[in-house]
Amino acid sequence: MQTQQIFDRLWADYTTQNPEAKKVHDSFISEGETVENDHIAFRTFFDTRINVDVLARPFLDAGYVQKGYYLFEDKHLTAKHYEHKTLANAPRVFISQLMTDHFSPALQTVVKQCAARVPDELVFGNELVFAGNVWGPPSYETYEMLRKESEYAAWLYVYGFVTNHFTVSINSLKKLNTIQKVNQFLKDKGFLLNSAGGEIKGTPEELLEQSSTKAAFQEVNFVDGTFEIPSCYYEFAIRYPYTDGKLYSGFIAKSADKIFESTDFYKQ
Ligand code: NI
Repeated sequence: MQTQQIFDRLWADYTTQNPEAKKVHDSFISEGETVENDHIAFRTFFDTRINVDVLARPFLDAGYVQKGYYLFEDKHLTAKHYEHKTLANAPRVFISQLMTDHFSPALQTVVKQCAARVPDELVFGNELVFAGNVWGPPSYETYEMLRKESEYAAWLYVYGFVTNHFTVSINSLKKLNTIQKVNQFLKDKGFLLNSAGGEIKGTPEELLEQSSTKAAFQEVNFVDGTFEIPSCYYEFAIRYPYTDGKLYSGFIAKSADKIFESTDFYKQ
């Protein structure tokens, strides 16, 4: 599959499942801006059947290579980021995985059961990134149990393999050309920002600043009833140049840690 096809398909799924993300995108378009993606992100569990490397396969086949490796100690996550070898404007791909062996036997049992239910054609093929929840209808009781240990685990248990966020490249915007302007613009439109650790994660000195919306609530059919829980979110990133003028292209685990909290459960 070609790079453009992959992103078109992921974008179609993301905007269908997250109408608010589409509204955010359309607000930029209404301002006359052209929206380019800095990166997209996926989540998974560290399990040989569904780890980062399995999710990365379609991107590697389309010409991506691995660039960075990251450790998010507080969240018990590791991550890799990928860039396209030749297409300069192709979004970066960021994939994280939960180190499940750092958690309770109960959480590990849930993850093992989920991983065992992933069909072999997804484990050995290229389509896992498009597959969504492949382990069957979730239980709200299990969601709540997982949340106590890891909001990331709980979110992933419900939604599975979907794009967790797309990220607007502020560098590609004309009018809204600072992260402060983007954040104010979004708040004026009534969107909620993730303010955990401050609205802006990172600094110009670190060469990367990011912010994000708080994931909007979505009605989910659980086996034990219908409940509203946070879905996916939208992110915004601005990159600064090194002294040689080249833009920084990586990620900073320390400053991006709180971005993961954009899908945490909250009072509506
Ligand atoms: Ni991100």
